[in-house]
Amino acid sequence: MAQATHYNKYPQEERRRPRIVSREEAMELQDYRHACHIMLYAPTIAKLFGRVPIRYVVLMMMRYDGRLGFPGGFVDMKDASLEDGLNRELLEELGPSFNTLKVTEENYKSSQVREVPLKGVTHFFVKELTLEEIESIEKESFNAKDHGSEVMGVVRVPLYTLRDGFGGLPAFLSNNFIGNSKSQLLYGLRSLRLLREDQIQDAIWCSQNNQY
Ligand code: GTP
Ligand code: MN
Ligand code: MN
Ligand code: MN
Ligand code: MN
Ligand code: MN
Repeated sequence: MAQATHYNKYPQEERRRPRIVSREEAMELQDYRHACHIMLYAPTIAKLFGRVPIRYVVLMMMRYDGRLGFPGGFVDMKDASLEDGLNRELLEELGPSFNTLKVTEENYKSSQVREVPLKGVTHFFVKELTLEEIESIEKESFNAKDHGSEVMGVVRVPLYTLRDGFGGLPAFLSNNFIGNSKSQLLYGLRSLRLLREDQIQDAIWCSQNNQY
């Protein structure tokens, strides 16, 4: 309670930390740029080295700026809805798979608002696919318009932690991430129960306390 009071005394413009808002609230904001990104994932029974369960294939991408992020992007004036904008970006960034695969309102998950460095809203979507659909997206991603320019490659997120206590998810989390995409990843893993809470907490701790 005391903390909330302390936090709230700062005017909205000076709050550096993105805040969670409802979709309705987000859509009423004036002069904010909207962007939509999505976590695409599929369950798998495959094991690394025949021993380590991979559990889920979760897609992110290496961006042109050297940071990791989710596929998606800014919603433009000509996009009729958030989903329209996201489907257009997915076609540009991931390629022809998204002529048929379409994101809908059912895939909407959450929205976050930030004031700095620029006023913006990021909307986060999630969609479960089959392993075959994920593999086909990966293959077709080389034919995407933005492949090799905005997109340097689609990557899979390792969800396991190797015996050294750092390889896998902790090492992955030590990368650089665009905007709040790292918190979106953790939120997605948590809320979809792709990992248990203690596994997520361990991975975060190991990513911050490695000696390698
Ligand atoms: P351009 O076509 O070059 O404009 O890029 P884009 O439309 O694909 O936009 P981009 O994906 O870069 O996302 C727009 C803005 O949202 C970025 O400038 C980042 O601040 C932020 N952003 C990018 N990726 C992510 C992401 O995965 N999650 C979140 N929360 N924000 C992101
Ligand atoms: Mn993008
Ligand atoms: Mn784009
Ligand atoms: Mn951009
Ligand atoms: Mn764009
Ligand atoms: Mn673009």
